[in-house]
Amino acid sequence: MKKFPENFLWGAAMSAPQTEGQSLNFGKSATIWDYWFQTAPEKFHQQQGPAITSDVYGQYLKDCQRMQEIGLNSIRTSISWARLLPDGKTVNPQAVAFYRQYFTAMRDHGVEPIINLFHFDMPMWLMARGGWESREAIAAFAFYAQTSFELFGDLVKKWTTFNEPLVHVECGYLYQYHYPAIVDFKRAVQVAYHNLLAHKAAVAKFRNTLPSGEIGIILNISPTYPKSEATADMLAARRSDLLNTRSFLDPAVLGTIPDDLVALLSENELLPVTKPEDQALIKDHIVDFIGLNYYQPRRVQAPTAPKTPAQMPADFYQPYDWPDKKINPHRGWEIYPKALYDVAMMMKNDYHNMPWYVSENGMGVANEEAFMADNGEIQDDYRIAFMKEHLNYLHQGIREGSNCFGYHAWTFVDCWSWLNGYKNRYGFYRLDLATGQRSMKKSGRWMKQVSENNGF
Ligand code: BG6
Repeated sequence: MKKFPENFLWGAAMSAPQTEGQSLNFGKSATIWDYWFQTAPEKFHQQQGPAITSDVYGQYLKDCQRMQEIGLNSIRTSISWARLLPDGKTVNPQAVAFYRQYFTAMRDHGVEPIINLFHFDMPMWLMARGGWESREAIAAFAFYAQTSFELFGDLVKKWTTFNEPLVHVECGYLYQYHYPAIVDFKRAVQVAYHNLLAHKAAVAKFRNTLPSGEIGIILNISPTYPKSEATADMLAARRSDLLNTRSFLDPAVLGTIPDDLVALLSENELLPVTKPEDQALIKDHIVDFIGLNYYQPRRVQAPTAPKTPAQMPADFYQPYDWPDKKINPHRGWEIYPKALYDVAMMMKNDYHNMPWYVSENGMGVANEEAFMADNGEIQDDYRIAFMKEHLNYLHQGIREGSNCFGYHAWTFVDCWSWLNGYKNRYGFYRLDLATGQRSMKKSGRWMKQVSENNGF
């Protein structure tokens, strides 16, 4: 039996915009997702928009029972900024009542809430003023963070500021998967920089408001592996690592931005507009823990025709198609569990063994009905195998001293996913879209055993 450390968090991750539903009701204002769906529904898989979710708003009480039923002792979800502060200033009492009841119900069922503030859901009123491109967004976010800490700090001890800031930066400003779907590397860097300052400003507020709580940030981690040890491939891997990993991890944990990242951006005329006071903000306000979402590694090689100045990240490094790779055919993502051991060692060796947890890991599968048994249960043995393989490597990292305190699967109940709608399912519970009913999958039963044994 592989045992995990005492008080290990076994849980699942979710987000407000992907699960709550009632996207324009009960006082919530529009986010970029509501707006984008209204204006370009054809972009969304089967025209499934942000209103078609698992309706946690209506079903949270029963869902908290379901969390307990499969042995989860923690859940990460987010608050919807546009629900709590529909105009950015005025608190929506219906949102306060909902979140207080929801977080209380989690606690009543032995589930520790880890609450995140931003999961890709920029309120539309702020987007109309420039969104994260505007410095105004930093103060607006700090106010939202402060308001949340004051309203829910008695129920929530662990907080996070952002989920995967780099994902909404690259999807919104490079690859056109999120609104405003712009392609502009320099603007993307500015947006990322403002996210970093907003994160720091929120941590600063947290220290004054909830000094006994803990705060972190959730970053997507795709460890970079070079095609070969040739200098050009190694340089490409280093650049990928700087842009995709160190850009947020270093300032969050070490209070610094790597010098070679600054040099790289400078050489390519990509430096953001800054103010002198930013330096102190970046240096201070170190997090208490880190959440790392891991799905797939990044394999890179030197770009064939590098451009200077760079116009896209591909000018620094290009994807390399590793012939030995194992793929999840539904999502097209490589499955490489060993990366979790490498991540564990990176946290131990490069980030002075800061406490961290796996804040997302999971396998999205299309048409899961094909795996339904006669009794209606989805036989998702592939998901169990996926999680086991990842947990094996995580366990090895912990045994070698990495300070990992939990594992959260993505996700609890099948949920809506941005442009992909309900194409890929990830949950421990199946969602019947037509009725909203949930039914436990085999992986849910498996998770209960893992959690009860604190290992497998
Ligand atoms: C993470 C996000 O990047 O991956 C989630 O935090 C997302 O919001 C998850 O749903 C799985 O990705 P996808 O695109 O398959 O839903």
